[in-house]
Amino acid sequence: MDSKDLSITLNSGELPLADRVVLQRCVSYFRNVHSTAALEAAGHTVVNSFACAWVCGNKLFGSLELVKHHIPTPRTTLAMAEDSALRSMEEMGYPAVIKPVVGSWGRLSALIRDVDAARAVIEDREQMFPLYQIYYLQEFVKRPPRDIRSFVIGDRTIAAIYRYSGGSEWRTNTARGGKAEAYKITSELNELSVRAAKAVGGEFVGVDLMEGEDGLLVHEVNNTTEFRNTVPATGIDIPGMVIDYLISVQKR
Ligand SMILES: Nc1ncnc2c1ncn2[C@@H]1O[C@H](COP(=O)(O)OP(=O)(O)O)[C@@H](O)[C@H]1O
Ligand SMILES: [Mg+2]
Repeated sequence: MDSKDLSITLNSGELPLADRVVLQRCVSYFRNVHSTAALEAAGHTVVNSFACAWVCGNKLFGSLELVKHHIPTPRTTLAMAEDSALRSMEEMGYPAVIKPVVGSWGRLSALIRDVDAARAVIEDREQMFPLYQIYYLQEFVKRPPRDIRSFVIGDRTIAAIYRYSGGSEWRTNTARGGKAEAYKITSELNELSVRAAKAVGGEFVGVDLMEGEDGLLVHEVNNTTEFRNTVPATGIDIPGMVIDYLISVQKR
């Protein structure tokens, strides 16, 4: 169902799709989080839950859960004004990474190599919608030109890929031309991915990890993960496994 066709009257007492298990697939952050809230309130079981969508949809909230659950994650700083953001980046050292707290596909995430670039990016942000002035700043992880995306369903990691960035691009998102290659799931990857999924209350999630100098780091958990490139790269029937999982949820 296209979320744009959905309308739910909050106080009607009617359950339009009464007591269904709903797989939330909307890639629009705002439609996703709001429709999940309303569907859940109307009595449906939504995968993933509103609590999970809320936390995963915002990189700050997601990072806070990872830190709280002692999951290794890149060093991240929150700043809320131009001066404190610049000071935080000086302290962190360059290169540094700045990301919008709400966003995906690598959009508006920038790799900042020096203070001039930092000033330019932050000055631009100051002209944008206030959400973009919540400065989410991260150390640039010295990693190979790739990251890892793992897929967790329930309490198991069922597939994983390397994502190699293309050309001069530093971001490895497949939406930016990153190339998928199968990754053999290790016990370390399985354990860390499942812990990250649980930390955010996720049932079917995509976990983003990087190979840091001291081991794997989780940088985010995606509540509406795409798998178009992973199925051909791994031969794993992710949609089929998700459907099986939803049937098991329906039977509970
Ligand atoms: N701290 C970092 N150090 C190095 N590369 C990073 C860092 N954070 C993100 N990246 C790269 O940018 C990509 C997008 O970042 P991510 O946090 O996953 O945001 P998005 O929600 O846009 O996918 C990552 O997949 C990774 O390749
Ligand atoms: Mg990502």
